[in-house]
Amino acid sequence: MDASTSVFDTVIDRTTSHSDKWSKFPDTVIPMWVADMDFDSPDCIKNALSQRVEEGVYGYTKTPDVLEKAIQAHALTQYNWSVSAQDLVHLPGLVCALHLSVRVFSEADDRIVVPGPVYYHLTKAPALVGRDIAHVDMTLENHRWVPDMAQFEAACADPKSKMILLCNPHNPGGTVYSQAELLRIHALAEKYNLIVVSDEIHCDLILDSVPHVPFASLNEDAASRTITLMAPSKTFNVAGLGYAFAVIQNTELRHAFDQGRTGLIPSPNLLGLTAATAAYQEGQVWHHALLTYLKGNRDLLVERLASTPLKMARLEATYLAWIDASALGLDDAYEFFVNAGVGVSNGADFGDANFVRLNFGCPKSVLLEAIERIEAALEQHSQS
Ligand SMILES: Cc1ncc(COP(=O)(O)O)c(C=O)c1O
Repeated sequence: MDASTSVFDTVIDRTTSHSDKWSKFPDTVIPMWVADMDFDSPDCIKNALSQRVEEGVYGYTKTPDVLEKAIQAHALTQYNWSVSAQDLVHLPGLVCALHLSVRVFSEADDRIVVPGPVYYHLTKAPALVGRDIAHVDMTLENHRWVPDMAQFEAACADPKSKMILLCNPHNPGGTVYSQAELLRIHALAEKYNLIVVSDEIHCDLILDSVPHVPFASLNEDAASRTITLMAPSKTFNVAGLGYAFAVIQNTELRHAFDQGRTGLIPSPNLLGLTAATAAYQEGQVWHHALLTYLKGNRDLLVERLASTPLKMARLEATYLAWIDASALGLDDAYEFFVNAGVGVSNGADFGDANFVRLNFGCPKSVLLEAIERIEAALEQHSQS
């Protein structure tokens, strides 16, 4: 490998490993939808897993103290956030915690405030149990997607509203909320006494020089009303190992959450615990290299889309580009991309069918091929 190539350039055949991502489309279509990356996990994770598998006995497993210490150290160094081990709740995934939070902390007639378009489980969690959703539009401000704050206040002020479901960094759209923006949202939560469930799964995938601020770290009141949800799964590409954690600093809320999950949500898989420990203890160098690579992919995509009718706002975080195809006047933007041979996510699933979401967590050569396919389809479309 010469100096200019990266481990992330390696094209890995995922067609034989029952990958969700690689099973959805015919093999003429490049899959760029669900949020996992086509990269190997770091060696520290692969080695830790091999060692654990080698032990041969895979019984019920306690969360290792070293994992809790590694999470605490990570929170402190990355976000200057001090959390204690007792505030952690270990989970087999993050989505179950979104659904559980809605069920535990709201009742039949309550409303849930959700800025969107957003990752579909943030609306599915309330919808599945018949809670009303107060939708707050994300609008473009200085090329960033941010919630319309007038709508946000109106939604929170409704006496039926009990909870805000926030996604920070935002998926899709890639907004990293600033401290000032979060403080404005917190002011609403405090004024109208709402619980905040903050899905921060993408918080270690920040591509610009902006800090991630955990909502709960804003101040004592925020800490007392927030369920923070995090995981190493997106960052270290271990989503299939099923591990996430909640930070719940309010004892009452934590006990209610714990009670709600008892007997329903199992402990994390022992290999998920092993991978998470290795990731937070030893994954820093790989993580840094990953962010550099993803930035390169994002910049390439932004540069190439700039000369097309497709629009994309500033993507501060994630490897999920939120692409506005409305200028093309298509009946079905999703179908247009898939027919072009690029298997994106349908924007309709997040709340806007004029958009598609393209996962660029892949080798640059694959991204280039996808861009060329899109450009060719656009060229053909412009002539039709
Ligand atoms: C915002 C967000 N939350 C949660 C998840 C999934 O979490 P898990 O796989 O741990 O259930 C995703 C996956 O794409 C996501 O983007």
